Parts: sequence; structure tokens; C-alpha cells
Amino acid sequence: MTTNAPSGNRRAVKAVIPAAGLATRFLPATKAVPKELLPVVDRPVLQYIVEEAAAAGITDVLLVTGRGKTSMVDHFDRRPDVEARLAEKGDTERLAEVRRTSELADIYTCRQGEPLGLGHAVGTAASHVGDNAFAVLLGDEFVDLEEPLLPAMLDLQARTGGIVLAFVEVNPEETSRYGIASIKETGTTDVVEVTGLVEKPTPEEAPSNLAVLGRYVLPASIFEAIDNTKPGSGGEIQLTDAMAQLLADGTPVHGIVYRGHRYDTGMPLGYLQAVVQLAVKRPDLGAEFSEWLKDFVGSLKG
Ligand code: G1P
Repeated sequence: MTTNAPSGNRRAVKAVIPAAGLATRFLPATKAVPKELLPVVDRPVLQYIVEEAAAAGITDVLLVTGRGKTSMVDHFDRRPDVEARLAEKGDTERLAEVRRTSELADIYTCRQGEPLGLGHAVGTAASHVGDNAFAVLLGDEFVDLEEPLLPAMLDLQARTGGIVLAFVEVNPEETSRYGIASIKETGTTDVVEVTGLVEKPTPEEAPSNLAVLGRYVLPASIFEAIDNTKPGSGGEIQLTDAMAQLLADGTPVHGIVYRGHRYDTGMPLGYLQAVVQLAVKRPDLGAEFSEWLKDFVGSLKG
């Protein structure tokens, strides 16, 4: 495989959001509602993710969905009946918010028929993505729009033609929840060269404390690597293993160490933290909610 050469230096313009999972951590809430549609204040998690893609100039978004999850697509569709009602009432602010959801991006879908792993989910996007580099945004993590990450990743990928990852520093006891990288410094602040990748290592096996965050920019050669990847950690076809294969074949792999704020809504605790943090920041609710929160926290002490 010849993967050393830059791939034409065009910024990726498509994103894939794997969102076929069962979300067992949120049962019973997720029996009938996809976890990606759980609200953070008044927008579903998935909207924050599509907004992050759109803010980086990506407006072609493929949702990898599963059974019972098609309501995710409805969220980004027009709702002429709701819009007409809001227009009638003169509620222009809400009307604009409702319209905006359908204007953020062009949403496409494909199915992951069986839950065979993140690598497998990304593999289902092959025909939609075609031959160009593309972004992958995991469906339960997002970053602050004021501290964007994706634009720098897309620029770096266009320069290297390889794989670009993003890392967060985690505590040693957390390595078994993430893909962990071994790295070399590049001389550029917060950009590292990746020399190895391992999925969910124990703290003893972990080569560093740099954990792969749910944002990737990948060359199309990942699809062949996924096809050649055998089940790994958890018996699943892991994206990390497919990336490790490309790395071994000579594809440049870089990572940006993200220092901004990341919201991780994949677990109940992180989800609750995201709701509170974003509610505090809201221009319409923040002041009143913060006052209440201070009193409430005060009442917990003693
Ligand atoms: C996935 C990836 C892992 C990555 C993580 C980020 O794991 O396999 O490498 O660090 O997302 O959230 P999951 O959370 O699906 O178990």
C-alpha cells in the first residue's frame, strides 16, 4: 500500500457520525429514544455534533444508524406544521431555531445492521465517502464551539494526507476506556506524531496518557484497512486497529492535543455535567439557573 504521499491537499468535506449503538448505559431512557437525541438543555446531543461539523465547513453528514433510530433523521428535517404555528404566534426566535436545524447540513444515512464495532460502523460509510479524506465524529462527544478542534484537524490532514487524531490527557486509571497512543514530539506545540495505537489498554500496558477523543480525519485508505481488520478489544472490529495497520504500512499519523473543553455525554455523569455547564452558559437561562445552582449547592453542604 502506498500511503506516504499527501492526498491532493483538499480539506475533507464529508463527515460520518456512527450512531447505531444501543446505549445500554442510559436504559430505560434509550428503549425508544436514541441516546443521540437526549436533550442537553433544549437541543439533542446530535445537534451539537452536527453544529460542530457545520462550523468547520462540513455540511455533508452521513449518520450510521440502526434499528429504531430513524427519529435522528427527523430532527434535521423541516417541520412546516410546527413552523407555521410558531409564525402564527409571532415566536420568531423559536421559529428561527427550528428552521436552523434543517439548514445546518445535508443529512444522509446508512445502516449498520449488526453491532460489530466502531471500525465496522465506519466501514459502512465507504460508498458514500468515496476516495477522499473524511471526518468521523463520535455521537456522544462534542467540544465548545468557542474552542474549535475540527478546523485545525482538517487543515493538518490536508497537509499530511494521513490520519489526524485528537487527544485528551487522561488519568492513568482511565486508559482502559480509550484508544491510547504512543507519540513523538514534532516541535509544534500540541501537534504530535503518533508512533503506536492501542485500544483500551490497562494502565500498566498504556504507552502514554494521551487518549483518542471522538474526532478523526481519515484518508479513504482506511476502508481497505477496516476490511482487513479482525475483531479485537471486546470482540469488535476496532477503528483503532485499522488505523494501527495503516500506521504500520507507512501512513503518517498525527494528533492534536486538545486543551479546550470537551463534553462527554456517553455516560450519565458526563451527560449531567454537560447539561449543567451548557445551561449556565446560555444567554437566556444562564443567569437565573446559576443563581439557583449556587443556592442549591450551598444547601448541600453541612
Ligand atoms: C471509542 C474508540 C476509542 C476512543 C473513544 C473516544 O471507544 O474505540 O479508541 O478513545 O471512542 O470516546 P468507545 O467509547 O466507543 O468505547
